[in-house]
Amino acid sequence: MDAAALKEEILRLKQEKGVLILAHNYVIGDIQDIADVVADSLVLARKARDASEDKILFCGVDFMAESALILSPDKTVVHPTPESKCPMAAMATKDEVVEFKKKHPGVPVVAYVNTTAELKTVVDVCCTSANAVKVVKALGTDKVIFVPDCNLGQYIQTQVPEVEVILWEGHCHVHNDVGALDVMTMMSRYPDAVVMAHPECKPEVLKLADGIFSTEGMVKHAQASDAKQFIVITEEGLTYRMKKLMPEKEFIPLQTAVCHNMKRITLEVVLESLRTMEPKVKLPEDVIRDAKKALDRMVQIV
Ligand code: 13P
Ligand code: SF4
Repeated sequence: MDAAALKEEILRLKQEKGVLILAHNYVIGDIQDIADVVADSLVLARKARDASEDKILFCGVDFMAESALILSPDKTVVHPTPESKCPMAAMATKDEVVEFKKKHPGVPVVAYVNTTAELKTVVDVCCTSANAVKVVKALGTDKVIFVPDCNLGQYIQTQVPEVEVILWEGHCHVHNDVGALDVMTMMSRYPDAVVMAHPECKPEVLKLADGIFSTEGMVKHAQASDAKQFIVITEEGLTYRMKKLMPEKEFIPLQTAVCHNMKRITLEVVLESLRTMEPKVKLPEDVIRDAKKALDRMVQIV
């Protein structure tokens, strides 16, 4: 089947079976085209929680599909590519964080949502890049432990200087590999473009940006702006959605910023998953119950 036929069959089956397809901004354009919702990790978590459908097919990496199940444990959540894992989520284990907490008694732990379900059972609250600053402020403490993204943690520190952010050593290789020189080269080629960067990038990259946003924040900022040209410093897939939403504007991706785990999700695997409604996301009941507290708290903070 060619791409058009695959898309048609996916749309037909999804309708017939009453399945909601959620897709992250980094998946390939063909998948964005067949999804009901394409968004950042916070919007997708809220959609999963609020969906009227009882079946969700999640096109993203593993922690996103797991979070959908944790937030809506009565729903069936299918993740077409269980091998699509976020490497950053493996950079902080439950046991390591439990040990770390002992060195900082009484200090709450804020976990980036890019973590395992098991780790979420021992933290106080989760956050995404869209609400990390709000979550830290909402805790109202003078110290927080932030795991695992060191770059996002440092960015939060600049926004909330009154709180001491105790950092962890994790990072996203896609964003951390972006150098200031890469950005300066793009800026010299497109001197009038607005530079938007994701807070998973290193501080020297964030310093060059006109604005720092989650992927959804970048879409909103571009929609509200009068500017016509944007340099988008995050995974390159986001620019597909931006171009589709705003064909009159120009979005320049960083071609080398590619999350291969997101790109594994193809029309063929989505169609197969829709046919079989497999592989389902499965987690132990006690993990769902305990991880839910930190995720529920995250989605409630507006
Ligand atoms: P967003 O929540 O901004 O979409 O980011 C998710 C992610 O994995 C960034 O690499
Ligand atoms: Fe994980 Fe980075 Fe891929 Fe996001 S872009 S899913 S943080 S590896």
